[in-house]
Amino acid sequence: MALFYTHNINEQTKLGIWRIEEPEAFYLEKVPLKKGVSHPYKRLQHLAGRFLLPTLKEDFPLEEILVADTRKPFLESEKYHFSISHGGNFAAAIVSSTSRVGVDIELVSSRIVAISHKFLHHSEKVFLNDWLHLTKVHLELTTVMWSAKEAIYKWYGHGELDFRQHMQLSGPITFKADETIVLPFVFKKHEPIHVTVEARIFDQLALAWVMTGS
Ligand SMILES: CC(C)(COP(=O)(O)OP(=O)(O)OC[C@H]1O[C@@H](n2cnc3c(N)ncnc32)[C@H](O)[C@@H]1OP(=O)(O)O)[C@@H](O)C(=O)NCCC(=O)NCCS
Repeated sequence: MALFYTHNINEQTKLGIWRIEEPEAFYLEKVPLKKGVSHPYKRLQHLAGRFLLPTLKEDFPLEEILVADTRKPFLESEKYHFSISHGGNFAAAIVSSTSRVGVDIELVSSRIVAISHKFLHHSEKVFLNDWLHLTKVHLELTTVMWSAKEAIYKWYGHGELDFRQHMQLSGPITFKADETIVLPFVFKKHEPIHVTVEARIFDQLALAWVMTGS
């Protein structure tokens, strides 16, 4: 068993990261493999992501997962809202019986800084500026920004989002006492709404999640 991180956000919502160390057969004992994932490593990541769901909520009905045209997985019954991400040897998931959710993990990498012009609006750099003179923090916060937007993308679930225009940081980044990073965003695909993304950095891994509704 390799649960790397868990966080009970509230009674209804739980978040976790799984370190992938087992062979495929371990996951296949529990996870029905419905979609053809031809690449063995991607299949392992896919299986580990699914495996994590009942690890977080014991009664999660894995066999009922459907996949929308947008590739968002969902439960028709809405017994749980959930979101999955994989990166390297890690899989992350968030599950909630009440809230809409999105999660993303990313390995911290300079590749993301190199493409940051594609997903950061110039207004966002104002909020990031205080931190950007520190190279390591620059790398980590830019990765967190990318991860935050991917989490919002999954929370929204309908695709067709412009990462610079439709989701923008709307205020300064702050830190909680437990080192959780708090990022206020405005989501502008339709009437603007405020969503708060929370994030953590574990060494070379960035995790971001968003939930809305009680
Ligand atoms: C869908 C997307 C968010 C996945 O992110 P990723 O970093 O490639 O991969 P992750 O491992 O984090 O996430 C994959 C999981 O996301 C989930 N997912 C896929 N499409 C989704 C969608 N439309 N909504 C919600 N969740 C989705 C699935 O659970 C998938 O895993 P699974 O197939 O094993 O179940 C990403 O591929 C994407 O399309 N991003 C938008 C791209 C874009 O518009 N970029 C422009 C800015 S430069």
